[in-house]
Amino acid sequence: MLKVVFILTYIVGTVPAVAVADEVKESSAYVGSDACGACHTDKYDAWKTSKHSGTGSLADGSEKATEPKQDWIQNCSGCHTTNRSVRESTWSEMGVGCEACHGPGQDHVSNMGDIGKIVASPAADICGQCHGGNLSGAGLMSDGTRWAVGYRPGMKLADLPGLQMTPLDPAELPPPIIDNHPLTYNMWKASGHGKESGRTLTMGDKEWSGPITCVACHNPHQSEHPHQLVMDPHEICDTCHTQKAVVQGKGAKGIEETRSLHTAISCVECHMTEKNHFMRVLRPDDPNLAEGRTDTCSSCHEVKDRKIRAEQIQDWEAWYRETLEPVQADMRIIDDAIKNNPNVLNAELREKLADTKANLSIIEQDGSDGVHNLDYALEIMALAKRDLAKIKAAVQ
Ligand code: HEC
Ligand code: HEC
Ligand code: HEC
Ligand code: HEC
Ligand code: HEC
Ligand code: HEC
Ligand code: HEC
Ligand code: HEC
Repeated sequence: MLKVVFILTYIVGTVPAVAVADEVKESSAYVGSDACGACHTDKYDAWKTSKHSGTGSLADGSEKATEPKQDWIQNCSGCHTTNRSVRESTWSEMGVGCEACHGPGQDHVSNMGDIGKIVASPAADICGQCHGGNLSGAGLMSDGTRWAVGYRPGMKLADLPGLQMTPLDPAELPPPIIDNHPLTYNMWKASGHGKESGRTLTMGDKEWSGPITCVACHNPHQSEHPHQLVMDPHEICDTCHTQKAVVQGKGAKGIEETRSLHTAISCVECHMTEKNHFMRVLRPDDPNLAEGRTDTCSSCHEVKDRKIRAEQIQDWEAWYRETLEPVQADMRIIDDAIKNNPNVLNAELREKLADTKANLSIIEQDGSDGVHNLDYALEIMALAKRDLAKIKAAVQ
């Protein structure tokens, strides 16, 4: 809800004299979040309780320092303040204010909220200006500055001259977190979520046909869930992914519900170890996983023996593949026979075949090669084997 405002002169009158950033020719000037709060009370109140508002101010990286130290101004302030100017060494407010994501707002304010004069975009680049980084530690800009100098909401990061953000390869491990700073944007960009999926997916009241950006999963202002997530972290992945049915062992025709020891575990607990935004499991058998680093399986299990976990996961996968192969071979024989003689099966067997295919596609599309719920996969394959034997007998 918007509070209708007749206090415009008051707002504009109290706008602090802020130095316009010298790096960019501003389309408008910065007025500060308090000014936005005069009309957007709900957004302001929510944001105020978020970490972005800088309430737990990070002045020198320690708790609540009041006077920023030179070192912090030099190296840190670019992402921990809003409207940081390089030449003037100034900023308009501590923390991530409204205008860090919406762009300078004076023109929007003095035109009674003209939406043509403010940026409201779900683009991940807006978040990436601060949530991305350079792995070498050389700084984000070619001159060594550690933040995205000159970036303004609405721009593409790729268009920012001098930006050197490390591209990542999702086939490799997520980079280690350096001093509280995971390269979240870099990981996201390289993951399936950062690409055009060619599908249209619905999440709440919004549709995603391009990349699944940060604000598909995170409320930019605040939410009742941890990490500003738009819903319970135990449910968030199921909006688009179908693996939950397999993890829970539900849905296959003719198979009783088959729980596994991991049924109670959420996707995030296995796929976001160290909160990685590749969404990739850190496999215990990954040869590139450094000694000191915890693999996903050992992150919960008391026995932290990576070798044991590696054997378990490989056993599951091997068992799954060995069981699936003969089933797939039977299926090929049957498909070939039907191609040659489309009426070879009676109605009952045709239905059985359709059910078998549907059941098998559940575990094939799952993509985990049995890891999500081996018992369930084995049940499905056992039934498929029995039913395909009957069908095979009819076509041979
Ligand atoms: C004088 C009152 C007023 C102030 C102050 C104000 N806004 Fe607005 N804002 C509005 C109105 C009115 C709308 C249009 C609302 C609508 O159409 O639902 C709006 C819309 C917006 C939108 C949505 C734009 C869109 O494309 O849908 C954003 C984002 C926004 N404001 C951000 C800000 C920010 C950031 C500030 C502070 C820099 C700010 N506003 C200050 C009145 C104000
Ligand atoms: C490129 C932008 C950027 C720069 C430069 C930067 N930070 Fe950060 N910082 C962030 C972001 C984004 C987060 C939130 C990361 C997350 O939670 O994934 C963060 C988080 C933190 C946190 C953790 C806060 C918490 O609530 O857990 C600390 C402490 C911190 N930064 C200190 C520093 C210090 C000290 C420096 C300078 C040496 C610095 N930062 C430089 C962007 C930056
Ligand atoms: C961390 C970035 C970020 C911050 C900080 C932020 N916003 Fe937003 N805001 C967004 C994004 C992104 C959207 C658009 C979401 C979308 O299109 O899905 C948005 C949408 C809006 C809208 C449009 C209505 C809506 O619900 O989509 C308004 C109004 C708004 N913000 C006002 C504010 C105000 C006022 C503040 C400061 C108190 C603020 N925002 C702080 C990122 C931010
Ligand atoms: C101007 C820099 C900046 C921008 C832009 C920015 N962030 Fe942040 N973000 C930070 C910093 C700094 C922190 C850590 C703040 C702290 O803990 O004091 C943070 C923290 C967070 C957190 C952690 C919240 C928690 O409770 O764990 C989330 C989630 C987040 N940001 C998401 C986003 C999203 C989504 C966007 C884009 C819509 C965005 N941020 C834009 C700098 C930024
Ligand atoms: C808004 C929809 C949506 C949500 C929510 C979502 N995903 Fe995805 N996910 C996708 C799309 C689209 C792809 C790209 C591949 C495709 O088209 O199936 C993908 C791909 C993946 C992949 C395959 C690896 C890759 O990088 O392509 C994994 C693993 C994954 N997501 C895990 C998760 C996890 C874990 C969550 C919950 C934290 C989640 N996803 C939430 C839509 C979503
Ligand atoms: C598919 C859903 C999804 C997308 C897309 C996504 N996140 Fe997250 N994010 C999550 C989940 C789930 C968590 C919580 C992970 C956990 O609890 O272990 C999280 C955690 C975080 C955190 C807190 C981690 C910390 O270190 O404190 C930050 C910051 C964050 N995300 C930023 C971003 C940014 C920036 C983007 C876009 C570049 C993004 N996320 C895209 C689902 C998503
Ligand atoms: C017990 C840990 C665990 C849980 C819980 C879990 N997964 Fe997985 N998942 C795995 C492993 C291990 C793989 C195989 C990954 C590999 O080889 O890199 C996998 C594979 C996947 C893949 C295919 C990966 C790809 O690159 O195409 C997707 C998608 C996926 N899981 C999504 C989910 C979703 C959604 C949930 C929640 C309903 C979930 N997972 C729960 C461990 C888990
Ligand atoms: C989020 C926590 C969590 C993660 C991550 C996790 N597990 Fe488990 N695992 C459990 C729980 C809980 C049980 C059931 C209780 C028990 O037996 O310890 C279990 C049971 C097991 C069991 C059967 C009992 C045993 O200890 O021998 C095996 C084997 C196993 N997990 C292997 C793995 C492997 C391999 C991975 C990595 C793909 C993994 N787990 C990831 C929590 C987890």
